[in-house]
Amino acid sequence: MTARQTVMLLMVVVVLSLPGLIHCFQPLFSFDGNSTTHRDITQRAVLRKTAEVCRDIAASEGRDFSLTIDDSLSADMVQRACSSTGTFTSLLSSVLFRTAIANMYFSNAKVDVVYALSEEHHFDDETFQGGRDVITAGVSAVKASVKLENFVAGRWTLGRVCHTLQDFYSHSNWVELGNKAPYSTLIRPDQPLENLAGPSTPTCRNCTGGNCADNLLPDLLQQGLLTSGYFNIFSSAKPAGKCSHGGSFDKTSKRDPVGGISKDDVGSSHGSLHHKAADLAVNATMELLEDIRVAVGDENFLRLMGLSQSSVLCFVIDTTGSMSDDIAEAKRVSFEIIDSKRGTQQEPSAYILVPFNDPGFGPLIMTTDADVFKDSINMLSANGGGDVPELCLSGLQLALTAAPPSSEIFIFTDAPAKDAHLKSTITALIESTKSVVTFMLTDVLASRRRRRSAQGGISRAMSQSDAQLYRDLARASGGQAIEVTKSDLSVATSVIEDSSASAVVTVFQVVRNPGIPDNFTFTVDGSLRNMTAYITGASSLTFSLTSPTGVSQSSSQSSGPLASLTTAGNLRRLSLDTDNQTGSWQISVNSNSPYSVKVTGQSSVNFIYNLVEAHEGAHGDFSLKEGRPLSGGNASLLVSVTGSDTVKVTEVTLFDSSGPTEVNGSLQSMGSGNFLVTFSGVPPGDFVVRLKGEDSSSTSRSAPSSFQRQASTQIKTSSISVTSQANNTNVEPGSTVSVPFTVTTSTNGVVNDSATGTFTVRANNDRSYASTSPSTVTIATGGGGAANGTVTLTVPSTAASGTDVTLTIEAENAADTDVNYAVLRFSVAAKVTDVTRPVCQEVSTSTSCPSSSSLCASSQWEFIANLTDGINGTGIESITVRQGNGTLNTSTVAGAEGENITVATYSASCCSQNVELAVVDKVGNVGTCVGQARESTTSAPVTTAALNTTSTGGPTLSISRCLWISVAVSLLWK
Ligand SMILES: *[C@@H]1O[C@H](CO)[C@@H](O)[C@H](O)[C@H]1NC(C)=O
Ligand SMILES: *[C@@H]1O[C@H](CO)[C@@H](O)[C@H](O)[C@H]1NC(C)=O
Ligand SMILES: *[C@@H]1O[C@H](CO)[C@@H](O)[C@H](O)[C@H]1NC(C)=O
Repeated sequence: MTARQTVMLLMVVVVLSLPGLIHCFQPLFSFDGNSTTHRDITQRAVLRKTAEVCRDIAASEGRDFSLTIDDSLSADMVQRACSSTGTFTSLLSSVLFRTAIANMYFSNAKVDVVYALSEEHHFDDETFQGGRDVITAGVSAVKASVKLENFVAGRWTLGRVCHTLQDFYSHSNWVELGNKAPYSTLIRPDQPLENLAGPSTPTCRNCTGGNCADNLLPDLLQQGLLTSGYFNIFSSAKPAGKCSHGGSFDKTSKRDPVGGISKDDVGSSHGSLHHKAADLAVNATMELLEDIRVAVGDENFLRLMGLSQSSVLCFVIDTTGSMSDDIAEAKRVSFEIIDSKRGTQQEPSAYILVPFNDPGFGPLIMTTDADVFKDSINMLSANGGGDVPELCLSGLQLALTAAPPSSEIFIFTDAPAKDAHLKSTITALIESTKSVVTFMLTDVLASRRRRRSAQGGISRAMSQSDAQLYRDLARASGGQAIEVTKSDLSVATSVIEDSSASAVVTVFQVVRNPGIPDNFTFTVDGSLRNMTAYITGASSLTFSLTSPTGVSQSSSQSSGPLASLTTAGNLRRLSLDTDNQTGSWQISVNSNSPYSVKVTGQSSVNFIYNLVEAHEGAHGDFSLKEGRPLSGGNASLLVSVTGSDTVKVTEVTLFDSSGPTEVNGSLQSMGSGNFLVTFSGVPPGDFVVRLKGEDSSSTSRSAPSSFQRQASTQIKTSSISVTSQANNTNVEPGSTVSVPFTVTTSTNGVVNDSATGTFTVRANNDRSYASTSPSTVTIATGGGGAANGTVTLTVPSTAASGTDVTLTIEAENAADTDVNYAVLRFSVAAKVTDVTRPVCQEVSTSTSCPSSSSLCASSQWEFIANLTDGINGTGIESITVRQGNGTLNTSTVAGAEGENITVATYSASCCSQNVELAVVDKVGNVGTCVGQARESTTSAPVTTAALNTTSTGGPTLSISRCLWISVAVSLLWK
């Protein structure tokens, strides 16, 4: 690194902690109480567009849809409206939808951290072409991800793209030019960016006395020229006469012409236009979502938005010789779930299957098609083996990175893991994705004894210490390590069926290791249904259960007044009868061996949370924090409560599930069930988030009912911090990304800049892509307490666009007692050169429809069009009828220049006189064809038709032609 680079890097580090750096709509929170944030804009657009899609689907199925679509929508309202199929009776939860929306707004907010100084990511400095390139390349990447059903990766990219699009409305003069509609050209790479103020065209004059209301030059406004503000925190240099962004940290705004034009919040230079800009940004975001919707189809669009009632069904299965019984059981239980839920809202939203053995693991099969999953699991066969340990964690790693956040993953194995070195990587991924990992371990030995198997070879059976790795991972994730004989497995798999129910919530969970007799209480509220308690532990464990009215049941009663009990291996499953028994329940466990207790139920009332970190400053804002919080330091959570508008949160704590420590958070309401929760001085340890509150909706009693919920995933603290910055998360096939990272240590939550030490570094990616990493980094004396390194990752040239790859970078201290990590997600995105949309040429239309609607049923009309992606296009991938209930037939012919032409023939009853076709090419460029059969007003078949070529909703570029044809057809080209 040269001295200049070092200086630059230091400046960047300083800058990242500087107040006021954030120079866009506030990312997550508005502390002036009246400004709209990127989070608000993204959420409004997602909720409105999702509701529109549900409305259109309802209309096409002839169902009612009564929800009013405006900015007052909540995720719960949209989820409910989208779920009302009439036959729906089970509980609804908006947790998955809220989680998906949160992923989008966190990724949106992160642009201010990762791309803080990049003008094109914010449309600063008149970089319109650069900004549009960021948007259109990102949109292509989203479409490629969705095509591979990589919805998680698609959401991350989408959030990022939305940031840049939204910033345009704050940073440019689009609003000041009087525009009332979004600038569609920003999402249309095939259209020219016109009317830009030239590089030497002055755009602003001095603000007068701090008032910038009138600082745009009248000439600019008269000519309708587009400009944006210059922004720099280091230098005041800007081209002569140009506008600045404005604000205390923008040095360019101190120089003639002084002042700025940003509309980031109500206090900005053009703050009076803030709400107008934010509203337009919402509509622009919706327009971008609509483009993606048409390209990927309604069903995949709703999946991308995370609008799902059901979680994924995810199995990681050992396929070595001794596993045939286990495979048969995995098959039985998954088929039962599929067959009983198919076509209902509880049908799993996707299916994931990862086989592993030795030496192989994978490939991962991820599908939304139950039959593909059935075929895949049918094809699993147990063979080979003999060599004991298997690549269990490698298989689990694939599942963890592919499954949506908060999924439950079930692992079937009877062998120790050969790849135990991945333990910390797996733990990092569990913490980062909040996935729950439950192990179905068959034939674990009670001692280290190895026994001979029936075939005479060494049995694969696991020792207790082998099983401990699995127990540790289960515990970190809030899952269970269930140890059963092969013959009892079918009883234990009821936990899989339990977890596939809708709206499952965790009420209480605790682990005691070492085991010690203890009493636990938990609150049952009126919204809970089908409560189940799981107790795992040694066979000598006994327990008793006591209801709020003092009724008791002991572990010797398999069927008693409070619960029915089944036992399989180390698992006791209690199906609780809690009807009309709200209040405080107690479980007393008597065991001196390690044990765990978990209590779940079904309820709409639940919460999601994410660790966030503050960027100090005048406004102050937050972004998602990856990795573990610092021991002894402060931690902040963004908590969102779902399910009821009548829920009041009274307490959020970090609860040490293995000890007595409980850290109370201070709550700050952010509206709509969102809370910023701050914990100060979090001691070293493993914590889970526990939330308590009151719900006044669920019962008819006058007193509100108390409730509690607990998160599954443990939050561990660390004294190490690993921060990394990747400057591009979309990677082209065949290219190598360099990821610089920094390791520091802290004392009581504060970076110790006189620390020294050497740290083991591990970099792992889930695709087994080539990667380099230093094996250690050292904080040297006088090194300012930080050590730097670089990890590289090379994406093979054969990698398909839309493939995602997750890289974890871990640093562990020399004593192997403390580890922290950074998790980075990349999407493979080949450069898209085909930016033109498929075109449509109307060929002919036959028959005119009778003018009397009573006669329409007896007549048909037909519409034929040639569709092509041109000679240089990637080719048409799909043609769908978006409006009209006729039939579409297609055939392909060669055009005059050798291009493929798809001949679309649409015929419909004259009672349905409109057709709209969406024509999508292989990279997701969308053309829309609209035809309409008008009724003849005279008996003569003389009518008009118009063919327009316009951008969808775009204000520019409209070519109209009039054609005389024999039938009334109006063809609108979008
Ligand atoms: C917020 O801004 C709007 C529009 O500028 C204004 O009408 C309203 O009174 C403001 N509310 C508060 C609480 O400042
Ligand atoms: C604009 O303001 C700056 C700083 O106050 C001043 O130096 C400059 O002369 C002003 N320019 C004009 C054209 O008034
Ligand atoms: C945004 O779109 C909605 C619905 O199409 C419209 O009613 C509203 O006026 C638009 N808002 C702006 C600021 O253009």
